Amino acid sequence: MEDTLLRIEEISKHFGGVYAVNEVNLNVDHGGIWGLVGPNGSGKSTLFNTILGLHKPDHGDIYFEDKCVTNLAPHQMYDLGLANAFQVPRLFYSMTVLDNMLVAARRQQGDKLFNGLFLRRRWQEQEKGLISEALDILDIVGLDELSFTPAKELSGGQRKLLELGRGLMAKPKLLLLDEPAAGINPVLGKRIFEKLRDLSKNGIAFFIVEHRLELLFEFASWVYVMDKGKLVLAGEPKTITDNPLFYSIYLGDE
Ligand SMILES: Nc1ncnc2c1ncn2[C@@H]1O[C@H](COP(=O)(O)OP(=O)(O)OP(=O)(O)O)[C@@H](O)[C@H]1O
Ligand SMILES: [Mg+2]
Repeated sequence: MEDTLLRIEEISKHFGGVYAVNEVNLNVDHGGIWGLVGPNGSGKSTLFNTILGLHKPDHGDIYFEDKCVTNLAPHQMYDLGLANAFQVPRLFYSMTVLDNMLVAARRQQGDKLFNGLFLRRRWQEQEKGLISEALDILDIVGLDELSFTPAKELSGGQRKLLELGRGLMAKPKLLLLDEPAAGINPVLGKRIFEKLRDLSKNGIAFFIVEHRLELLFEFASWVYVMDKGKLVLAGEPKTITDNPLFYSIYLGDE
């Protein structure tokens, strides 16, 4: 139990008559790569948004490090060590790569930093600290040489890496990634997953929605499968791909 980082208990979320997420139970432990897959509209993003505090669940509870966080706001989840990167990167395209990183961190720390303008000196020190952290992370995600390039000049894959870097600025215990490899070439997709694997060895857990199953299944140690709002399968990638139910879900069983 003490290994459990995130625990979802009987979570449901509906929109009008649509049960987007229906009584889902699952766990994510510290470290490692955890997958969440399922056909379009099966509820993956809704589940993520509920974990992040963007949606309030209609039923059930969410625990983070054994603390009940069901009704916390996104910034409170962020402070506890939960961050995300969006299905579509939300970057400031005219700003440099480095500034995009700093904005990600400042957005969270801004209130604290500007609490008193007389704290200017401390602010300058923290700002220096943030810059050096940002440069370290850009090095990790392989964008260090593009630090001063405007984000709009990045390729689709590089934008995904920047979005990952922005998520890492939170120093998260758990990072939720919604389709990190979507729309980018297979070589870079694989490189992103290799980076995630390295980072996960340092104790960060990644919970990842990805439609590129072959890529996710190569790197994930545990995979959850959703269908029509329900959690229908869970296990090691090999167990999942050995299960005929998995294929019938994707082929549609009607
Ligand atoms: N804000 C919303 N308002 C109304 N219905 C919604 C909303 N968000 C999601 N839904 C519905 O909930 C269901 C689950 O959607 P969700 O986006 O979670 O699926 P998904 O598994 O992430 O799909 P995809 O793989 O296409 O990203 C769908 O039927 C969708 O139309
Ligand atoms: Mg989605």
